[in-house]
Amino acid sequence: MGIFMENSPSVVFHIFSEGAKMKIGVPKERVPQEKRVAVSPDSIKKLIALGFEVVVESGAGDGACFSDGVYSEAGASIARDAAGALSDVDIVFKVRPPSKDGGVDELSLLTTGTILVSSLGVMSNKPLADALAQQGVTAFAMEMLPRITRAQSMDILSSQSNLSGYKAVLDAAGELGRAFPMMMTAAGTIAPAKVFVMGVGVAGLQAIATAKRMGAVVTATDVRPATKEQVESLGGKFLVVDPDMEKDAQTEGGYAKEMPPEYFEKQKQVVAEHIKKQDVVITTALIPGRTAPILVTDEMVKSMPSGAVIVDLAVEAGGNVEGSELGKTVTKHEVTIVGHANVPSRVAQDASTLFAKNLLNFMTPLVDGETQKLNIDWEDEIIQGTLVCRDGSVVHPALTGQES
Ligand code: NAI
Repeated sequence: MGIFMENSPSVVFHIFSEGAKMKIGVPKERVPQEKRVAVSPDSIKKLIALGFEVVVESGAGDGACFSDGVYSEAGASIARDAAGALSDVDIVFKVRPPSKDGGVDELSLLTTGTILVSSLGVMSNKPLADALAQQGVTAFAMEMLPRITRAQSMDILSSQSNLSGYKAVLDAAGELGRAFPMMMTAAGTIAPAKVFVMGVGVAGLQAIATAKRMGAVVTATDVRPATKEQVESLGGKFLVVDPDMEKDAQTEGGYAKEMPPEYFEKQKQVVAEHIKKQDVVITTALIPGRTAPILVTDEMVKSMPSGAVIVDLAVEAGGNVEGSELGKTVTKHEVTIVGHANVPSRVAQDASTLFAKNLLNFMTPLVDGETQKLNIDWEDEIIQGTLVCRDGSVVHPALTGQES
């Protein structure tokens, strides 16, 4: 472990002694309703094999059903409080950005030189990037990971969206007064539920796959034409809006562009006809850095069969559905609209396991196999894509205004 020395009343420096193991700290997440945690028993074992010590705050895994005992068995030591997992360590793993929730000012507990690996949301919270820099933290924002093949196993957005897509279908099934599969019974035949998925990224694809597995008749739509084949390969039917306008709908990074008003008009007409017959609609449409587009209007909700269910997975980004409310399930025109916040936390154990694996996969190439010390290639595309601040300054080009 490093040697700690007081520099000023508020700043603590640590200097790593030769031969000492690097310590990873994992505090309990204190944002309300957050059940996830940034390590799993499996990731702890692998981090230890890489040469790290792991310290987990007591109770950090409770929401994900990983007890202190399970973590200890995996080889972690248990810290009594947040300070034990945030201050006395070299690297901090977190799910959520540092907060002041639960009466703990996490940022102020981070010491100069600490490496923070977490989702940070700094693109919409520049003051946090500034504060981390001022604190002398080297911060990696995992949501900014470049979406390149080499980084797929580190991609927290994908691992968490995948589970959201799955859970959205279960949430819809839980609210729907009908069964998903066709059932031929002595008392009569039940027709399969019709499920319509809007937005076919990672969450949408998993929603399609899950609804298909449950026996529903699935249709889907997206602005990116590449998704048509993906929908069909999962056994869904693709709803085409306007192939001409969709030709230019995708950015180089694979994300959707904001579409012109004419597209939305056309989409509205096509969707309005289709949605009238749907039992379940799951919306997942997002445009990075923008408010989510409204895809389902109040008029469309009104046209749906009574008892239908809509799950708005984009609700945290403003919502795809007129009338959806963040953190609430509401009924409009006899249609249930589900707007759960933080859907991955509703599948906390698997979400944590995958998140933990993403962080492990991010750390692995940063460790020199022989010396078991960090050896970070600061020029690497993955490092440059995620590094928010270093040596007291905000360095990410998207935050310093230097991005082309
Ligand atoms: P996302 O969460 O940003 O958006 C969800 C979906 O909504 C997207 O498919 C988008 O095209 C769609 N959408 C946006 N506006 C819409 C509208 N007005 N109407 C209908 N649909 C609309 O997307 P996500 O899940 O993050 O995936 C984005 C891309 O990144 C995809 O191409 C995906 O395959 C790719 N990807 C690549 C990875 C890698 O290579 N490492 C990992 C994960 C995703």
